[in-house]
Amino acid sequence: MEKKKILVVDDSRSIREAICQILGSDYQIETAADGDAAIAAAKTFRPDLVLLDINMPGPDGYAVCQELRSEPLSDFIKILMVSNRTKLDERLKGYQSGADDFIGKPFVPEELLAKVRVFMRLKTAEDELQRLNEALNEQVAIRTRQLLDAEKMAAVGRYAAGIVHNLSNPLQAIMGIAQLLAIRNPDEKNIMRLRKAAAQMKKIIGTILNTCHRESIEALVPIDLNEMIRDQIELLRADPFFKHQVQTITELTPVPTYKGIYLHFSQSIGNLIKNASDAMYESETRILNIKSGMEGEEIVIRISDSGCGISEERLDRIFNPFYTTKPLTAEDARPTGTGLGLASGREMIESYGGAITVESTLGKGSRFTVRLPVKKETAR
Ligand SMILES: Nc1ncnc2c1ncn2[C@@H]1O[C@H](COP(=O)(O)OP(=O)(O)OP(=O)(O)O)[C@@H](O)[C@H]1O
Ligand SMILES: [Mg+2]
Repeated sequence: MEKKKILVVDDSRSIREAICQILGSDYQIETAADGDAAIAAAKTFRPDLVLLDINMPGPDGYAVCQELRSEPLSDFIKILMVSNRTKLDERLKGYQSGADDFIGKPFVPEELLAKVRVFMRLKTAEDELQRLNEALNEQVAIRTRQLLDAEKMAAVGRYAAGIVHNLSNPLQAIMGIAQLLAIRNPDEKNIMRLRKAAAQMKKIIGTILNTCHRESIEALVPIDLNEMIRDQIELLRADPFFKHQVQTITELTPVPTYKGIYLHFSQSIGNLIKNASDAMYESETRILNIKSGMEGEEIVIRISDSGCGISEERLDRIFNPFYTTKPLTAEDARPTGTGLGLASGREMIESYGGAITVESTLGKGSRFTVRLPVKKETAR
């Protein structure tokens, strides 16, 4: 660690030298022989602590002290006056001009060293506090910005349903005309392609509208979890990375319909699937495996990826609100996030007496497991 800095101010050379002898091995030291030199040195040397004589040519110790304290940057500098003027009124004058403590002259070397150490410890603690404070302020500013952006995205989401709905009518027209064209030109390949593309579009619009509609219902409805998983995968296909780079393997076996709020499941499980895809952004093999089925009295959904994995120390934190390793926005297609997916997802699943757990190997991949008790579902 870098040595802390002390500025020694005294017009007597022998005292300056004596102090350097006592402190020189533990601290980085600079000296000044009068008040003006002290003020100049403080600006360039930026000491942590100043040992300040009172009687000097030019501005005396009190004046130097006041001058130093008038600079906002010097708030955290420790100033110890070293003087034979130790009468009460002289000491009070020193405190008034901003000194932290006094050491009488002639001083005992051990006491000087001990006092300097005490004030340096205080300085270190204050610096750390200041640093933490700055870091905290920065964090708050970032999070505030993220929340505002998340709110904006939610607004876009609300409009999306309307926009998609409005696409239905022109699409109907395209499909109708394509059908007419097909009747007139039954062998034209391009018309067949056109009709296929339009049908695909209709299906996508249907899925989006269906999901939006179901998500807007705040009531308990019977949910086919496997269908919900298929819809979430379908919606994710809007992302070219997911569509073209991720190999998705589903092994969905029948599970009882689950009574709940649709949004709770689409969001929590949708986020797990999205996270799995995100984790493989920089991986060579990109295999997403989604299984569902019954295990005893529980519905179990497992989402595994061959992505970056999560280190053991991070495993504790990923369910914390706002914990994310993704940027909020990105110039390229890399995954972005707010760090709220797992926190809110876990809360939603737990409100049904269920649980989300994770196993992961760094560099190999992760497996998230959602368990939902079938019997307790009516207890909500
Ligand atoms: N399958 C996974 N593989 C590796 N890391 C993961 C996986 N799932 C989650 N994580 C880690 O946990 C963090 C938190 O995930 P969470 O879903 O809560 O937030 P996010 O995906 O970053 O943002 P969002 O709020 O958009 O979901 C992620 O940033 C990532 O570091
Ligand atoms: Mg997420």
